[in-house]
Amino acid sequence: MSTQLDTSRRAFTTSQAIEMKAQGEKITVLTAYDFTTARLLDSAGIDIVLVGDSASNVFAGNETTLPMTLDEMIYHVRAVVKGVHAATGRAMIVADMPFMTYQLSSEDALKNAGRLMKETGCHAVKLEGGAAVAPAVKRITEVGIPVMGHLGLTPQSIYKFGSYKVRARDEHEAETLLHDAKLLEESGAFAIVLEKIPKALAEKVTRSVGVPTIGIGAGNACDGQVLVVNDMLGLNNAFKPRFVRRYANLEQVISDSVKQYVADVKRRDFPNESESY
Ligand code: KIV
Repeated sequence: MSTQLDTSRRAFTTSQAIEMKAQGEKITVLTAYDFTTARLLDSAGIDIVLVGDSASNVFAGNETTLPMTLDEMIYHVRAVVKGVHAATGRAMIVADMPFMTYQLSSEDALKNAGRLMKETGCHAVKLEGGAAVAPAVKRITEVGIPVMGHLGLTPQSIYKFGSYKVRARDEHEAETLLHDAKLLEESGAFAIVLEKIPKALAEKVTRSVGVPTIGIGAGNACDGQVLVVNDMLGLNNAFKPRFVRRYANLEQVISDSVKQYVADVKRRDFPNESESY
């Protein structure tokens, strides 16, 4: 039996993410919830695929991320893991911990993070919040499970916030966020998502922590950027927040294609002879 490592499939690691921050090289992150998208993202060279609980909104059609269950997340992450491995296998796969799977106690959080890792093959978990979840981050990371933090507009707290407006504009909330970021780093988080906060605050947090910050609606000073893949591909043109850059208009492409298919079938053009046996 060969004992040689397969170096052609060098995987993206947490230490590589931290090294990239030190070198000033940006980290690229996109969400995926299914096999095909994950395969495409990995083969296009993305560093991290995040299986976000935004699946609750963009995949399942819920208004918020709160209904997502651990079993549903496991279903999505398994598909994404297979997609990444069907391509180059390089991207790191991070799985969101759904609402109420890490807030009850650190032991419960560890048990659920363990299920995500063991039952899917993902490489890290992500959870939302600062001081309240720091003990859970510490417990999960001390057994060897990498954790990505998430501060700012944390969608699982939407009913506390009352809106999807920019967070931490006032000094008190900004100071708390900075303190939370340091606490997450001390607790072992290898990276921190900063969502919808002022650019200047994101810059200050990025300078104040040794682990990479990954911004979404947080300006360009973060060490990396993340977007929901459906948003950047233009799959829902009704949703266009300022922080999304649209790289395609797939809503138009899909709509035009389906209209053409309907027309072709109705006028008996499809299937033709060469498309038949
Ligand atoms: O669930 C998600 O997609 C996320 C990103 C927007 C950061 O948490």
